[in-house]
Amino acid sequence: MGQKPITFMCQVLALCQYPDLLSSPSFPEDAKKRAMRILQACGGHSSGSYSASAGIQTIRENVARYIEHRDRGIASDPENIFLSTGASSAIMAVLNLLVSGKGKNRTGVMIPIPQYPLYSATLAEFDAVQINYCLNEEHQWGLDVAELQRALGQAKAHCQPRVLCVINPGNPTGQVLSRENIEAVIRFAYEEHLFLMADEEKKAVLARLAEKAQLMKILNKQPGIQCNPVQGAMYSFPHIQLPPKALQRAKELGQPADMFFCKQLLEETGICVVPGSGFGQKEGTYHFR
Ligand SMILES: Cc1ncc(COP(=O)(O)O)c(C=O)c1O
Repeated sequence: MGQKPITFMCQVLALCQYPDLLSSPSFPEDAKKRAMRILQACGGHSSGSYSASAGIQTIRENVARYIEHRDRGIASDPENIFLSTGASSAIMAVLNLLVSGKGKNRTGVMIPIPQYPLYSATLAEFDAVQINYCLNEEHQWGLDVAELQRALGQAKAHCQPRVLCVINPGNPTGQVLSRENIEAVIRFAYEEHLFLMADEEKKAVLARLAEKAQLMKILNKQPGIQCNPVQGAMYSFPHIQLPPKALQRAKELGQPADMFFCKQLLEETGICVVPGSGFGQKEGTYHFR
């Protein structure tokens, strides 16, 4: 996708990992200054030393300061910051914390359909109840509060809904929530006493992805493919209409029909896409990412 790694971060990481480079003229002074500050905060001034589970204190303080700046002065306490080695480990750690109970008291976690499969896999691993809410394909994969209400109402009969996960921008669907939509979701989570997990990427990166997303318009020129405008993620999730003969052949092969389509596409054109059945989709509809 042409996303360049951020040079400053690469330099700081390299310097922290191999401090002999601090005397190298190839590195700029600002990166050296930042690396020295981080190393000062590490036990034994080495990034190889043990650190607090929540992350190095100085970095947590920087993160809190950044959040205060971003939120125009709303206080952020470094003690409430917990650093992780990526989104996956953070999602798993938080869900692990929230899942409890047996039978009807098992924790229910609301996730979008289609979803990033890490969620369904983690919920299965932790024996939590997966509560599906469907994104509205007819409204550019929008998130309807009425649909959240429906999913929650049905789930209450067999579990304890405790968590609402929101993926923004969507993966695999590529939509970006509007401010009003985000406000409505926060209000819903507050009123229903749900822990809100927001899985969210950066504005500048999104803007560049949004330009590339325009390329997806070409998909709508193909017969049998409809694709919503992609608003700013790396992904799009076009809807495909499969002819009866393809559905029949997939059945004979014992494959989901969209898996059959993706394999044929790969073999005949070399184009590699991921079948929608891996993400969850409305019964009887077919997609790919
Ligand atoms: C919505 C979403 N959540 C979590 C992840 C996992 O992130 P990480 O690679 O930082 O573990 C991804 C990666 O694509 C993602 O798209």
